[in-house]
Amino acid sequence: MESLLIHHIGQLAGIRSQSRPLKGNCLSDFLCLENAWMLIREGRIAAFGSMEEDWRAGAHAGVGVHVIAGSMGSPGSDVHTGGSIREIDAGGALVLPAWCDSHTHIVFAGSREQEFVDKIKGVSYAEIAAKGGGILNSARKLADTPEEDLYYMAYARLVECMRMGTGAIEIKSGYGLSTEAELKMLRVIQRLKQNAPIPVRSTFLGAHAFPVAFKNNRDAYIDLVVEEMLPQIQAEGLADYIDVFCEDGFFTQSETERICRAGMERGLIPKIHANQLNRSGGVQAGVAVGALSVDHLETMGPEEIACLQGSTTIATLLPGAAFFLRMGYPPARAMVDAGLTLALASDYNPGSCPSGNMNFVVALACIQMKLTPEEAINAATINGAYAMGVGQEVGSITEGKKANLIFMRPVPSLAYLPYAFGTTHIDRVMINGEFLDY
Ligand code: NIG
Ligand code: FE
Repeated sequence: MESLLIHHIGQLAGIRSQSRPLKGNCLSDFLCLENAWMLIREGRIAAFGSMEEDWRAGAHAGVGVHVIAGSMGSPGSDVHTGGSIREIDAGGALVLPAWCDSHTHIVFAGSREQEFVDKIKGVSYAEIAAKGGGILNSARKLADTPEEDLYYMAYARLVECMRMGTGAIEIKSGYGLSTEAELKMLRVIQRLKQNAPIPVRSTFLGAHAFPVAFKNNRDAYIDLVVEEMLPQIQAEGLADYIDVFCEDGFFTQSETERICRAGMERGLIPKIHANQLNRSGGVQAGVAVGALSVDHLETMGPEEIACLQGSTTIATLLPGAAFFLRMGYPPARAMVDAGLTLALASDYNPGSCPSGNMNFVVALACIQMKLTPEEAINAATINGAYAMGVGQEVGSITEGKKANLIFMRPVPSLAYLPYAFGTTHIDRVMINGEFLDY
């Protein structure tokens, strides 16, 4: 297989020799190499360095690459693989690890812009939900949609996200709310996992809302999730994670714990929706069950922050949802100062954030939550990768990791990315060492 040598990278950003999630003040650790080259072999980052060094020949010897190349532009050969080396000029691009979007709901059957208009006219998200709109609206649409159609719609959204720089993604069920429809959603995610070129992780969110038929018999629905859905999900190996919407009007703290523990018995790791609309006990429930992440966290008090301080649970913030619902943002600064591990994700879904644009998420994190550009990019790459269990594979410029990269047009500085928000900075996206051509 041909290796790829990329030269004249203006800035190679997000370099780490060791891969681990970044806590508290370490969230601002950010290494950027000016005027760099990178060698990609078999879809992975094989080596990188400064153009100031003898980059085409001797510079590589130290990392065992031994590029033997003629004049600029003529192909060399990679003695490591015996194959040829293709060279490309990055033209001064800023190269970053691709975004790692650890919280999405991209399997859905239809949009909900009528609710969006209702909200403009003053109806709240909670009121829409209480009237059978919201998640239940999406569940009705999904029940009537064949698996095949759902797959193609979700694949199109996945491609849309990749084109905006996403190089790894987590996808949840949760618009099924019946055994048949939840399994249908999870099978769609399974197919995305098999066919998409980026890492995909699957989360079972059967406990997203109570179906109307179970409104007055909550325990019966939880029994259905625990006793009927989970065994089939385990049998078919359909999920990596278990999620619960722990919120007033949805699932309580103790119901959340019960469902998470049942999922854990079936081999699933908890990753939960907590404290979006209220201080619901979701953070406490997540920490009690050792959740990989608790997500949303728009409503946080000192107790919730203290609770996360003593844990390894990642705090995943979804500022696109707070923006879209016109809610207060999570207290990100206080959370960093308290030493928490923060990740950023899109929450792409038809109700509370109909966008998977991680570039905008990073800009919002800086503009509205006062993360620095370096902190926000780390939260959306390396920490996002860990928040979905793919931290050893993607999320940083590290030898051996997948070459899932964003090539930004030349910009004056890293800070220019969130500063000039809304501008498309992305020139090209590389997945597994190949540029996307769609
Ligand atoms: O993460 N909050 C719960 N679930 C989604 C929204 C679901 C919907 O409105 O469709 C979220 O915001
Ligand atoms: Fe969500």
